[in-house]
Amino acid sequence: MKTTIIIPTYNEQENIIALIDALQAQFDRMSHDMGILVVDDNSPDGTADRVRAVQGRYSNVWLITGEKEGLGAAYLRGMRYCMDELGSEVVFEMDADFSHRPEDVPRLMHEVDEGADFVIGSRYVRGGSIPTEWGLVRRLNSLYGNVVARYVAGIYRVRDCTAGFRAIRVPLLRDIDFDALRVKGYAFQVALLHEAVIKGAKVVEIPVDFVDRAAGESKLGIRDIIEFILNAWWIRLRTFRTFIKFALVGLSGVVVNLGSFTLLLALGMNKYLASPVAIELSIIWNFLLNNYWTFRWRRTKDRARIKGLKFNIVSLLALGVSYSVFVMFSQIFPDLPPQWGQLVGILPAMLVNYMLNTYWTFRDTEPEPS
Ligand code: GDD
Ligand code: MN
Repeated sequence: MKTTIIIPTYNEQENIIALIDALQAQFDRMSHDMGILVVDDNSPDGTADRVRAVQGRYSNVWLITGEKEGLGAAYLRGMRYCMDELGSEVVFEMDADFSHRPEDVPRLMHEVDEGADFVIGSRYVRGGSIPTEWGLVRRLNSLYGNVVARYVAGIYRVRDCTAGFRAIRVPLLRDIDFDALRVKGYAFQVALLHEAVIKGAKVVEIPVDFVDRAAGESKLGIRDIIEFILNAWWIRLRTFRTFIKFALVGLSGVVVNLGSFTLLLALGMNKYLASPVAIELSIIWNFLLNNYWTFRWRRTKDRARIKGLKFNIVSLLALGVSYSVFVMFSQIFPDLPPQWGQLVGILPAMLVNYMLNTYWTFRDTEPEPS
């Protein structure tokens, strides 16, 4: 598989060449078509020139440059380049400062080979570690970041949500609307992970030892921290809004169901035929609203057909549930107005609809607390 390690750099001239050399040594032991993309933001220390100098030596090293907008913005540019220009099938995120050990690259890649979509080199699973040199403040900072990501943004199941050492399958990235991420800095890590989780990606964490940087300094700033916290709350708010929208759509579906049922009866249609027709109409109504409104921000072009197919299966199931309840009700209470049976049938059908469309069609799998 064509695999590209994306390394964002800002003033990393002391590290970048040593890292590229170390990575190449690992590539020699790997069976995949490995390459490196350095995304440098016009570092004043001349990082980019260093990279250009080794491009003659290595044909699998690419470089793109741009204005400094933040870590997340650099990754987004790098990922777009991998998709549009390099044709990568897997991309890695990796720091330039040797905090992520080159020897761990084959281990992450192995998990991709085993079927993972999103592999995290994790400091917070058994066997992983943070540097022993880290002081209390740095430890608490990292811990707090993960608590916010897990319990505010709702990525409960992942232990290291802020990790910057990852391997991601490109088809998953293509499914994600980059413009909707709205982040420029370090918050990108959480924003991207959250998108992957709601897409139903197979996320795997493997333990790594995070090494303190030896040369240069960290670029994490106060703006990154503020954006990080705002982003986590934004994700939470969006999830809540989705739920409210789904409920509103369901309510409007009831009106469509009962309204069209009454209309069809008035037109002289047999109630046993009018019922499934009205049910189907409301299901289509619900799907269109959910697809183009509720879950609009998750919508992707290439998956629309599959979603449509899944929706049809869910529709048939919900129709069967609703109709059988209607028939049962009509047999038990033949004298009651048929609208009552229709209404009672909506409830279990709505449940089936909600569960399957949320957790299957639209993959709204917010993981349960672990
Ligand atoms: N192009 C570009 N533009 N690169 C950047 C920028 C930027 O604005 N900011 C940082 N980088 C590069 C650095 O040069 C380095 O290669 C990498 O991104 C990580 O930056 P560091 O400044 O070393 O980050 P850190 O050590 O504080 O943070 C690490 O741990 C965090 C979690 O605790 C990183 O792995 C983060 O991704 C991670 O979230
Ligand atoms: Mn670092």
